[in-house]
Amino acid sequence: MKKTILLLLVLLTSTLLFASTAVVYFSATGNTERVANVIAEHENADIYEIVPSIPYSSADLNWRNDESRVNQEHNDPSFRPAIEAIPSLESYDTIFLGYPLWWQQAPHAVYTFVENTDLSGKTIIPFATSQASPLGNSAENLESASDSDATWLEGIRFRERASDNDVISWLESLNI
Ligand SMILES: Cc1cc2nc3c(=O)[nH]c(=O)nc-3n(C[C@H](O)[C@H](O)[C@H](O)COP(=O)(O)O)c2cc1C
Repeated sequence: MKKTILLLLVLLTSTLLFASTAVVYFSATGNTERVANVIAEHENADIYEIVPSIPYSSADLNWRNDESRVNQEHNDPSFRPAIEAIPSLESYDTIFLGYPLWWQQAPHAVYTFVENTDLSGKTIIPFATSQASPLGNSAENLESASDSDATWLEGIRFRERASDNDVISWLESLNI
């Protein structure tokens, strides 16, 4: 009996210790990346960047120019930029998914990721950074685009210069 209880305790402890978390993010100018790094450090999580095969230059990101790359992509909702392969996420239970808000939505590269990655059975926690826009329906739209049967928790939007404390307070408010 004692042995059985000990075995159960060992199993429980190892499950808790190895329940693992990853942070997956896209960031064009570093704001979301900073938040992603704080999450990864605080949650002892592995971190993966969604890297577009063709990086965005400053000229590409100039949304004030009607001809810029981001505007051309924005005008074609079905466009999915190619991204570099991300290692298997199979072993992770929880994934923090981060992105900047572009026209109040996740950039198309994040759609490339969710549409081509099996997230079944995982808990997804979205986070975004923006100049002013709220998270809005950006996470719901990503969830709808994904074929996977995952649990999407309510996400959060941070300001561009979010402090470590902003991020850590949020993490501590999550019951995960
Ligand atoms: C193409 C483009 C569109 C943007 N659209 C919005 C927007 O709709 N609302 C907003 O508040 N900020 C908008 N921004 C600002 C970014 O969301 C903000 O600077 C974000 O923190 C950038 O994150 P990053 O540094 O990780 O790329 C936009 C930026 C770009 C480049």
